[in-house]
Amino acid sequence: MKRRIVLLGPPASGKGTQAELIQKRFGISATSTGAILRAEAKRGTPVGIEIAKIISKGGLAPDEMVLRLVAGWLDKSDGSFLFDGFPRTVTQAERFEVLLCKRQWAVELAILLEVPDPVIQARMLRRLTCSSCGKVISMGRHVRDVSDPCPNCGGKLEARADDNLGALTRRMEEYREKTVPVADFYHRRDILARVAASRTAETVFEDVSELIDA
Ligand code: AP5
Ligand code: MG
Repeated sequence: MKRRIVLLGPPASGKGTQAELIQKRFGISATSTGAILRAEAKRGTPVGIEIAKIISKGGLAPDEMVLRLVAGWLDKSDGSFLFDGFPRTVTQAERFEVLLCKRQWAVELAILLEVPDPVIQARMLRRLTCSSCGKVISMGRHVRDVSDPCPNCGGKLEARADDNLGALTRRMEEYREKTVPVADFYHRRDILARVAASRTAETVFEDVSELIDA
């Protein structure tokens, strides 16, 4: 079984959704650099205020900042990990390799979730997040609208600051320019698996599970 995994894919491709399913079935602790950065933004610290500006415009946080967060996370890790949305630049991928090498670890599997642009847009516009438990929700599937309580904990649902068409355009540009080369980076290492992710979350997860089990 693979225990050192990164999940790549464009915005709203289902990285967070698959990460939650993987964590539940395989017990690999998952972390999303996006979620960590949003939590910092919410705290309203000087760094958080900077992060909030970057995220709401759809840009990427500085590599140094993200790598510091990841290194801190690895310090507490038992050696298995699932990163959702990291690495996002070739610099992050290269420096991640160095961090892992120091611990005699290496990425064993990079999963790329592939979805066409119209699906991305539709999913993003329907996505809500619980302000209490952080669960990712889809309007129309899990709840009717934003006024409904979180089906997981009853908390208040909210839309993300970057879930609008303006920020999405920038997020897609960043993805194409900086993150697609990361997929090539793992392809060259022979550990990249592409998964067609516009099917149901459960069907996508069947393929993902097979890759992890292999
Ligand atoms: P991040 O939080 O990683 O956002 P993202 O990559 O844009 O991806 P999303 O979280 O929007 O989507 P997802 O793929 O997780 O899909 P989800 O499961 O929610 O990053 C946000 C920002 O933080 C970045 O723009 C950047 O500023 C910064 N950042 C983060 N990491 C960074 C890094 N490493 N370096 C620099 N900056 C960084 O699903 C979406 C919706 O679709 C949900 O409603 C869900 O219920 C639904 N859904 C999921 N799967 C399916 C399915 N199969 N069928 C139908 N609906 C589905
Ligand atoms: Mg996510």
